[in-house]
Amino acid sequence: MKTIQKVSVIGAGIMGAGIANSIFKYGFEVKLFDLNKELLEKAVSDIKSKARRKMDPEKITMAASLEEAVKDADLIIEAIIEDLDIKCKFFKDLDGIAPEGTVFASNTSSLSISTMAQASGRPDRFIGLHFFNPAIIMRLVEIVVPKGFSPEVYTAVKEFIDNIKKTGVKCIESPGFIANRILIPLINEAFYVLDEKIKVSNADPIDVANDIDSAFLKEGILLMGPYDLVDITGIDTTYKVTQVIYEGFNRSPRYIPAPLLKNYVDKGWLGRKNNRGVYYYENQANDPDLNPCLNGKGEKIRRLEDPGFQTIELVASIVNESFRVLEEGIVDDFNDIELCMELGARWLKGPFVLARNIGVDVIHAELKRKYEKSGNNPRYEPSGLFVELPGQLKGYFAEA
Ligand SMILES: NC(=O)c1ccc[n+]([C@@H]2O[C@H](COP(=O)([O-])OP(=O)(O)OC[C@H]3O[C@@H](n4cnc5c(N)ncnc54)[C@H](O)[C@@H]3O)[C@@H](O)[C@H]2O)c1
Repeated sequence: MKTIQKVSVIGAGIMGAGIANSIFKYGFEVKLFDLNKELLEKAVSDIKSKARRKMDPEKITMAASLEEAVKDADLIIEAIIEDLDIKCKFFKDLDGIAPEGTVFASNTSSLSISTMAQASGRPDRFIGLHFFNPAIIMRLVEIVVPKGFSPEVYTAVKEFIDNIKKTGVKCIESPGFIANRILIPLINEAFYVLDEKIKVSNADPIDVANDIDSAFLKEGILLMGPYDLVDITGIDTTYKVTQVIYEGFNRSPRYIPAPLLKNYVDKGWLGRKNNRGVYYYENQANDPDLNPCLNGKGEKIRRLEDPGFQTIELVASIVNESFRVLEEGIVDDFNDIELCMELGARWLKGPFVLARNIGVDVIHAELKRKYEKSGNNPRYEPSGLFVELPGQLKGYFAEA
């Protein structure tokens, strides 16, 4: 397999432009193409105008057609609309015009790589390259390998990802890949907890959310709590990923999207982007300093010094899901999960460090408590690794 030198990026939107820039930055030849010519021109001129002096501006070009974009590419990265039928048709057509040896990659954040690989007609040369937003800054790339992938192709792609100074983590294809797979149960469970607390105590949902977000902030687990996070990501976007994971696991009751999450979407409470999510906002900026969370009276919300919420309720879900990812053989090593959550989700601590700090036995006991209390709800069924892992990791957890 040839070393990857020339790359085409198709789609010059948020992700495509960022990916092209990340590749150009390290001296590779990049051709960018988008059906929207105006957007394409803007993306290329923005990248050139921000280029450092030692970078050769000739190395990034915009292609006038898809044929021109891909004609001598070693790797083609697709970053078009998130729609499986459209992506499958795109790759089927691409197979007819791209050179035989070219590797195809999709930047999908949730769709089936195997389905696209089959549609492309070259399943052995197809891979998922899940860059995170903003691609120029975020170091993580989940390298998603579908069934029947060629190890040779994986090695060439991994080397290329290393060459653009990103951290590539190999992930055997599975719904949600790694970071979203672990993030979603946190958000989903946060909405189940919110729902329960509102119903039981008739509390104001914003007060409950603030208590929980304050607890996460105080314990320094994430940069922000789950409701702050979902308001930034978009509640509709998050809900779509919960559905993809639920469908991907054949509607397993373990992954049923929280009804309250759907309620927010139905009400049009989508997050910061439309000034109402779990909290209220005044303008659409994502920066919490410029656009603080407000309550229903328009008052700025103050995070609590002494929140009453015990984060273990939600942390248990994170750790359980991480153990499942390891148990299912999606990653080679538990450190890959730590990398994904620290670099992709920007967690301050990865789930295995959390488990080590809190105590695997303490988290296991919490899950068993919730499992029994809920009448054996599969959401809380502990992974088998709670028993096996401390032995397998040779003292890792005991060293805390
Ligand atoms: N936005 C994110 O945070 C994020 C993060 C990771 C992955 N992704 C994935 O990256 C992909 C792109 O997302 P985005 O946010 O950049 O979308 P976007 O809407 O900003 O950009 C998509 C671009 O693709 C172009 N396009 C559509 N069909 C095309 C075609 N057939 N040929 C050429 N260009 C075409 C559109 O004109 C548009 O400019 C999606 O699969 C998305 O799931 C997005």
